[in-house]
Amino acid sequence: MIIPRISRMAAYLVVCLFAMMTSAQNQPKTFTFTQTSDGFMISLSGVKVLEHSSQSPMLYIGLGETNITTFHGNFYFNEYLIERRGLAAYEVMSLTDISVQIGFKEVESPALLAVVTISRPTTRSFLTIEATATARTTDRMWLRIAAEKDEHVYGGGEQFSHFDLRGRSFPIWTREQGVGRNKSTLLTFLVDQYMKDAGGNYHTTYFPQSTFFSSRKFWCHVNGSNYVVMDFSHETFHEIEIRDTSSAKVLINTSPSMLELVQSFTDFNGRPPPLPDWIHNGAILGVQGGTQKMLDYYKQATASGLKVSGLWIQDWVGRLTTSFGDRLFWNWKWNQTLYPNLDQEIIALRRDHDVHVLGYINPNMNIEGDMYKEAAGKGYVVKNAQNGPLQVNFGDFFCGIVDLTNPEAFEWYKSVIKTNMIGIGLDGWMADFGEYLPTDGVVLHNGMSGREVHNLWPVLWAKLNREAVEEAGKMGQVVYFMRAGAAGTAKYSTLMWAGDQNVDFSYADGLASTIPAALSMGVSGMGLTHFDVGGYTAIPLPPLNLVRTKELLLRSAEAAVFTPVFRTHEGNQPKLCAQFYSDQDTLNKFARLTKMFSVLQQYTKQLVNEVVTSGTPAQRPLFLHYPDDARAYEIQYQYMYGRDFIVAPVFLENQSQWNLYLPAGKWIFFWNGTTVTGPADVTVDAPIGQTPVFFRSDSTWTNLFKTVAAIKEGDECSRVSTGDGDLQTCRP
Ligand SMILES: *[C@@H]1O[C@H](CO)[C@@H](O)[C@H](O)[C@H]1NC(C)=O
Ligand SMILES: *[C@@H]1O[C@H](CO)[C@@H](O)[C@H](O)[C@H]1NC(C)=O
Ligand SMILES: *[C@@H]1O[C@H](CO)[C@@H](O)[C@H](O)[C@H]1NC(C)=O
Ligand SMILES: *[C@@H]1O[C@H](CO)[C@@H](O)[C@H](O)[C@H]1NC(C)=O
Ligand SMILES: *[C@@H]1O[C@H](CO)[C@@H](O)[C@H](O)[C@H]1NC(C)=O
Ligand SMILES: *[C@@H]1O[C@H](CO)[C@@H](O)[C@H](O)[C@H]1NC(C)=O
Repeated sequence: MIIPRISRMAAYLVVCLFAMMTSAQNQPKTFTFTQTSDGFMISLSGVKVLEHSSQSPMLYIGLGETNITTFHGNFYFNEYLIERRGLAAYEVMSLTDISVQIGFKEVESPALLAVVTISRPTTRSFLTIEATATARTTDRMWLRIAAEKDEHVYGGGEQFSHFDLRGRSFPIWTREQGVGRNKSTLLTFLVDQYMKDAGGNYHTTYFPQSTFFSSRKFWCHVNGSNYVVMDFSHETFHEIEIRDTSSAKVLINTSPSMLELVQSFTDFNGRPPPLPDWIHNGAILGVQGGTQKMLDYYKQATASGLKVSGLWIQDWVGRLTTSFGDRLFWNWKWNQTLYPNLDQEIIALRRDHDVHVLGYINPNMNIEGDMYKEAAGKGYVVKNAQNGPLQVNFGDFFCGIVDLTNPEAFEWYKSVIKTNMIGIGLDGWMADFGEYLPTDGVVLHNGMSGREVHNLWPVLWAKLNREAVEEAGKMGQVVYFMRAGAAGTAKYSTLMWAGDQNVDFSYADGLASTIPAALSMGVSGMGLTHFDVGGYTAIPLPPLNLVRTKELLLRSAEAAVFTPVFRTHEGNQPKLCAQFYSDQDTLNKFARLTKMFSVLQQYTKQLVNEVVTSGTPAQRPLFLHYPDDARAYEIQYQYMYGRDFIVAPVFLENQSQWNLYLPAGKWIFFWNGTTVTGPADVTVDAPIGQTPVFFRSDSTWTNLFKTVAAIKEGDECSRVSTGDGDLQTCRP
């Protein structure tokens, strides 16, 4: 029923204005509904968030046909839009202290086509927009959020190519990030040609999230797991398309500052638990090849002075020789042939050296393994349209996917982690994948369709890991790191990593891309991430001949010193790629960098604590601390590491100098103590081993920073107890 339209007054007239106290922040937030000559406008705390006029309706509804095909975690959308209707006419159906309900119609027709309720309950700090289409032929809607010309927009989960999302459209769909990710490079072109379009694009990511943060100090989040497209390419509105539904829920919040804005989203979305203490002691070294090899690598590393916190053996399950090469055997059990006596060695390493052993798991099971057979027998794997177990091609072998929507299967997979992994003493693992759930022809236990659950899969996978660790009583001691994610991941995962970079210096898929990835993920609510030191994907085939160079490995390692976790990966072509153990010079350089990482740990722990308690990301965009500096909003390849550091990693080849920007204040160059007063563009010497870093002159950590900067190859570092806790000192 539509109550009569509130009469349109001649000019702009405030119809309703009310203020209320919020529970989250002790600031009155005002929700304003204003009728204009040709529509209305809705603001929250003075920030215009919705605007409707007959020329630019805030809501469109429509119908389309989307065919989705998938290949190895890449998804291709074939679209045909049947209809898109702009709902230009409206009626205010009800208006109360805390909500307004509006009916929408087309101008020519009296039929009510959608109802939108915008409310601001006193118990919440955010505004809720609930849109429901009453037209039967609707499977998508487009909601316009008000925008301004000079506004910047960030977030979208983990974005590798663009930190500021303005000017582009971002599909929110978890998938492989692609190899190359830049359609104008030869590498991407060739990968597309020879690997069925696996090259990816600027927006392809494992961890998309339907959330954005505006420099106008509001965040906007589409709740749920639907396929969403966030289009920021218009000057006066952001258009959010929500698929496969006739109703949508969008949340909006404002904050007085950018920093509080980012924090306030984590109140809603959740925050990760603290990292285990041991992870700060040094590098986690990715090694493989069996118990003896693992111990040999460890001996070699420590003999050269590397600080080691963990040994990550992704092949603890054993290997499988396939046509494609050596792959891990996805049957999540300790392979005692390859790793004899592993359980005893794990105990000894932890007891004698505080070194922790990590493994690997993902939510898929190789159909050749006994785990798959057990799962399929119990009905625990995702089914195909014929109600048999779905077998998905993972390159050179087929897998069943554990049905995470089946409570029994969920418990069973948790018990696999508890028994087979934590049970043999593993203190962590890569919790890989989560992006591959096919959309069509899948039957899930809870009756939802593949399309509905696809984006939720990584969250369920994270939740499973979290519960397994909690139930084993190991939270705070065990770490698992994930690449796939979505809204909610932050509350279930302990740590993210940036997925599979190419072993190159490219912007879109190399070391550089890990910087906007950390920044966008940080503002999206997950402030703990890291990357594979040296990257992962090598393509040793002509004409690319892409293999990891020693220079890339060292540049990547020096950058990792200023991130929360330092972990190496041998990559997909270990023998062809430079490794920390490749030569003595690399070992010596790693020794220095891992010591620096270890000595910096008091500072790092404080940053982790900020993530855990307030949601402030460890790696931060400059505008969180310099909101009045226009330049701070445009920087995507440098970051603040906590309040005190400006870090500008060298991510190009053959550089001896590097340019960076310093905001207002006095800054000390980390490597020689020179003071520079910002705002300033500076060029610094950047030899290998010296990440361009400045710290604030009034930092309380100055002594620690000087100790770290002074560490030379060959120095010995040892712990000394001081009034402030354990510190480390280093001397030749
Ligand atoms: C989707 O697939 C159907 C059946 O194969 C086909 O008829 C239709 O044209 C396809 N639509 C698009 C948009 O690709
Ligand atoms: C968001 O969606 C989740 C999952 O569908 C639901 O549990 C939650 O209540 C929703 N939050 C709000 C504020 O509507
Ligand atoms: C254990 O690993 C070895 C070497 O990778 C492999 O040959 C063997 O088949 C594996 N055994 C089992 C039971 O998976
Ligand atoms: C893509 O590659 C082109 C050509 O190398 C380069 O100019 C451009 O900056 C790259 N874009 C991104 C987003 O990496
Ligand atoms: C870097 O230097 C090496 C050796 O001088 C040279 O072969 C290579 O082409 C250079 N790379 C770039 C990107 O300039
Ligand atoms: C310190 O490093 C900066 C940047 O490379 C350089 O400009 C400056 O001259 C150096 N100062 C000293 C005292 O070496």
